[in-house]
Amino acid sequence: KETKDQLIIDAGQKHFGATMCKSCGMIYTASNPEDEMQHVQHHHRFLEGIKYTGWKKERIVAQFWDGKILLVLPHDPSYAIRKVEDVQELVDNELGFHQVVPRCPNKTKTLLFISDEKRVVGCLIAEPIKQAFRVLSEPTGPSSKECHRAWQCSDVPEPAVCGISRIWVFRLKRRKRIARRLVDTLRNCFMFGCFLKTDEIAFSDPTPDGKLFATKYCNT
Ligand code: ACO
Repeated sequence: KETKDQLIIDAGQKHFGATMCKSCGMIYTASNPEDEMQHVQHHHRFLEGIKYTGWKKERIVAQFWDGKILLVLPHDPSYAIRKVEDVQELVDNELGFHQVVPRCPNKTKTLLFISDEKRVVGCLIAEPIKQAFRVLSEPTGPSSKECHRAWQCSDVPEPAVCGISRIWVFRLKRRKRIARRLVDTLRNCFMFGCFLKTDEIAFSDPTPDGKLFATKYCNT
């Protein structure tokens, strides 16, 4: 069978095979000029996108030894909205989402995790919902191997309050409980005066990473 995979010759180059950039987290082949070019472009745009210069007004909703969480609301100053849009674009690019329009843009709540290095290293976007459909344990059927994201959902709606449309953590900061802290904070600040239960929040169209995290977080 013919494959179109690119072959690489090990001619003793300094960098061979896949490399992960230590500052932007992109995985690329350093010996491949096209890849290297893509990395240079991504590197600059990405680091610029996650840079946090400090705002005149910021709504701090949680503080930790390694950073803080800010809440951004739809009518906040344009500098805050612009940062959220820039970060969302990077996240959507990584997730392969295109032009997902929020159902109620006026009620969207965005949480940004700002690291001590003044970077947006985590982002969570949530909106009110009325119902959700439970993901059934494992995808079944002959196509389950190819369609890693075609989870089977129950067709019985269950009441829910808050839908997480995006959750993302910077590749180099994963497995440090940043996503967990974002969801904990969301549960606390989504509805005034109450702490949402895990079955009142729902993750929309989870990726494999998102599903592993959500399963662990919600104990389901
Ligand atoms: N594999 C296995 N278990 C995982 C994974 C994983 N990739 N990620 C999280 N978990 C589980 C672990 O049990 C972890 O605890 P442990 O590290 O003590 O074992 C627990 O969840 C808590 O994890 P966090 O450290 O809080 O998660 P993290 O900050 O790494 O962020 C996230 C998780 C957001 C899914 C991150 O991997 C990411 O950004 N991935 C790429 C973007 C993405 O796919 N986002 C989800 C899209 S779906 C949606 O937006 C609705």
